[in-house]
Amino acid sequence: MRRWKRFGVFGFILAQALAQAQAPDPVLYPPSGVHLLGSRVTVVAEADDIQTTAQVLKKVRTGSFVHLVLSLSRGKHELPLVIVQKDRVVRQPRIVHVFPSRHYVEAPLFAFHEDKSMVSACASCHAKEAGTKGCLRCHTDKAGQPEVPHEGYDPEDCGACHQNGTGPATASACAECHEATSGRLHAPYAVGDCRLCHDPHGASRKHLLTAEVTDLCGECHSPEEYVKGGHPVSNHPVNSKELTCLTCHRPHGGPFFPGHLRWAPEVFCSQCH
Ligand code: HEC
Ligand code: HEC
Ligand code: HEC
Ligand code: HEC
Ligand code: HEC
Ligand code: HEC
Ligand code: HEC
Ligand code: HEC
Repeated sequence: MRRWKRFGVFGFILAQALAQAQAPDPVLYPPSGVHLLGSRVTVVAEADDIQTTAQVLKKVRTGSFVHLVLSLSRGKHELPLVIVQKDRVVRQPRIVHVFPSRHYVEAPLFAFHEDKSMVSACASCHAKEAGTKGCLRCHTDKAGQPEVPHEGYDPEDCGACHQNGTGPATASACAECHEATSGRLHAPYAVGDCRLCHDPHGASRKHLLTAEVTDLCGECHSPEEYVKGGHPVSNHPVNSKELTCLTCHRPHGGPFFPGHLRWAPEVFCSQCH
């Protein structure tokens, strides 16, 4: 009798555990541990509602699905996700890593379009027939008019730069219209990843830069490092109206090395003094 009772309790726990293990994950996207570029992250779940602590930009309900568009800062987030369904509440936390650019991605990027199961789960609504218009349905930030548009960017033709439509875009796509810099090249330019400094979809800064000049250079060169290394002009007001890093340095490289300077060393100081 006692044995049966004990089995009953055990059986109940087992049945619950099985039910939990078999219940499909209500969160369709993103998968846990995903690495993403940019700050906009869309969570999609089969539910009545999704609740979380992050800043919500937009909530879209379509049929039995909810899309929650979040704005996340750089770094690792352990997002609490509370999935509200008709008869139950599921807590399904997600780990999401947000990177400003590929430079910082150590683990491989999650390639959304290469995961067949993900694409088919979404394809019922986001069908391919719409072509580039279909792309803009998910990548809404690529559709708008940015403050500084890129003349070479056509929102109707993603394939102009993205191999096979949704694949990576490489520097060779830029080389079709922009003559390559010659001479000794600045390392990140030589690598050919223009996105380290520019957003070719359009940006809010001139020259389509992804950050203010001092911050941009500072992502890889800390002032401590180059001032200690003997930066000859450490007492210059480098982040002022008169001088930025670009007043003296060429960002892609050029004929004057070391330093990728704008003028030859023997005439350099006399340009301004
Ligand atoms: C069903 C929604 C959806 C549609 C439609 C869609 N994408 Fe995506 N795409 C995503 C998601 C989600 C990611 C993952 C990164 C993110 O969240 O921004 C992604 C990532 C990307 C990436 C980055 C590379 C990668 O795999 O991580 C590129 C480039 C891209 N999409 C281009 C396109 C183009 C071009 C089209 C149209 C042919 C398109 N996408 C259509 C949802 C979509
Ligand atoms: C039931 C239909 C449906 C399904 C399934 C669906 N979506 Fe959507 N999705 C939509 C609709 C409709 C919109 C446009 C909403 C709007 O802005 O009006 C949208 C918009 C989006 C956006 C843009 C949100 C924004 O404003 O930035 C993304 C990203 C997205 N979907 C990703 C996905 C992903 C990833 C999946 C699969 C896991 C998916 N969707 C499955 C209907 C669906
Ligand atoms: C179809 C041709 C075309 C392609 C491809 C193209 N561009 Fe452009 N781009 C232009 C034109 C035209 C301009 C405006 C004229 C100019 O400033 O050279 C421009 C301007 C720019 C500017 C701003 C220049 C400034 O001083 O404000 C940057 C930065 C830039 N492109 C980067 C890129 C990158 C990075 C790529 C590759 C991902 C790329 N472009 C691909 C045609 C193109
Ligand atoms: C002028 C060239 C160019 C065009 C046109 C272009 N892209 Fe891109 N895109 C790039 C480059 C360069 C990257 C960096 C990707 C890489 O490193 O592989 C990128 C990255 C992306 C990413 C991932 C990072 C991010 O910014 O979210 C998405 C998503 C994306 N593109 C969507 C699109 C869509 C959708 C279109 C069409 C509406 C489009 N792109 C058209 C050059 C372009
Ligand atoms: C280390 C950061 C960095 C990288 C990487 C980089 N750029 Fe630039 N680029 C800049 C900055 C900063 C400027 C603004 C220059 C100025 O104000 O004189 C610029 C200017 C430009 C311009 C306009 C002026 C000119 O020289 O024609 C174009 C076009 C351009 N970049 C294209 C590219 C392309 C294409 C790539 C990739 C092959 C690339 N850049 C990689 C930082 C970078
Ligand atoms: C994505 C990272 C990255 C960014 C952003 C970046 N750099 Fe660099 N830079 C490097 C690397 C890597 C080297 C070569 C490594 C070294 O020798 O220290 C380098 C080298 C240099 C050098 C020394 C060249 C020499 O050896 O004499 C100068 C000067 C320089 N960068 C200036 C700048 C300026 C100015 C900016 C902003 C427009 C900038 N960098 C942005 C990565 C970057
Ligand atoms: C007034 C002109 C001027 C300004 C402004 C300036 N630099 Fe320099 N920088 C130089 C000169 C000159 C050198 C020495 C080049 C050489 O090695 O001969 C140099 C060297 C460097 C080096 C290489 C140092 C080393 O030890 O290898 C880096 C990195 C660098 N600068 C980054 C920057 C950054 C980032 C800024 C903006 C915050 C900046 N510079 C602003 C003139 C300037
Ligand atoms: C692109 C213009 C430019 C170049 C090139 C330049 N400087 Fe300057 N320099 C300035 C500006 C602007 C100031 C700050 C305003 C001032 O004091 O005149 C400054 C300030 C200085 C000061 C501080 C003056 C004071 O009163 O404290 C010294 C020292 C100096 N520079 C030396 C040099 C040397 C050495 C070189 C060559 C390696 C050089 N500069 C190259 C623009 C430049």
